[in-house]
Amino acid sequence: MNTPETELGPPRKCADRRMTNGRSWPCLHPGEVHIWKAFLDGSTYERDRALLSAEEADRAARYHFAQGRMRFVAGRALLRTILGGYLDRPPAELAFSHGPYGKPWLVQDEQEERLHFNVSHAGPVALFAVTKEGELGIDIERIREIHDWAAIANGCFSPQERTHLRRLPDSRRRPAFFQAWTRREALLKASGDGLTGESAGWPHAPDAGYSVQSLVPVPGYLATLACAFPAPRTVFLTWLGAPASTASATVELPNMLS
Ligand SMILES: CC(C)(COP(=O)(O)OP(=O)(O)OC[C@H]1O[C@@H](n2cnc3c(N)ncnc32)[C@H](O)[C@@H]1OP(=O)(O)O)[C@@H](O)C(=O)NCCC(=O)NCCS
Repeated sequence: MNTPETELGPPRKCADRRMTNGRSWPCLHPGEVHIWKAFLDGSTYERDRALLSAEEADRAARYHFAQGRMRFVAGRALLRTILGGYLDRPPAELAFSHGPYGKPWLVQDEQEERLHFNVSHAGPVALFAVTKEGELGIDIERIREIHDWAAIANGCFSPQERTHLRRLPDSRRRPAFFQAWTRREALLKASGDGLTGESAGWPHAPDAGYSVQSLVPVPGYLATLACAFPAPRTVFLTWLGAPASTASATVELPNMLS
């Protein structure tokens, strides 16, 4: 597996901090995005399942493999716990609705300050981005071999990104590919279109008006945060329970494709 830190130089910024479960919750200030990193395991499965809505429990039951079910349940329970922490509301009482292409949003009273969030998972790693500023999208991918990278790039990336990718040596192409991939996905998730919406795929993917930040949340993974508002101050938080081997600080990456 690639370790982007080695290939891309030393970390530029490390700002992770750990929270004690449910206490002294971090304040979400205007202009901030909080990015929570978590490792989804089944250690609190029964407790987690009790937090889910009937619709979520139904979806969990439809997972064919136990690992997928366990990660979905843990991810939804954690999303509820994190959002409930900011709103000072019990996690099980939160209700979600979805945009036309599946983007979930929180159902809130008019008096309540609006919270925006987006979630991404790659294997056991999950990222939860939360802000009061406006719409945002986050995507994480494990850096891995992609045999048909050129075909994917032709379908999803800009001509400039494709040209850069082709010119890169093999060792640098893989992380650069995933930087472009997560960027595209994060933008599509920020707009809510996902892969099935109207702006999915180049040349319609929306870039203008969005700020993007490329991150290495865990060695061997790449992530992008896209925000429909000016570049936020990002605060990185790690949910307790991360294995020591993966509890590294989140690192920001320069653009490898310009
Ligand atoms: C659903 C999609 C938005 C992201 O899927 P993904 O990358 O497989 O999954 P992620 O873990 O990053 O994100 C899933 C989460 O995004 C959220 N989500 C779902 N639909 C969304 C949408 N239209 N917009 C924003 N967020 C969405 C949900 O919270 C979901 O979590 P859940 O499964 O627990 O409900 C969609 O773009 C997709 O199917 N992508 C496939 C990836 C691909 O082939 N990319 C090609 C390279 S560009």
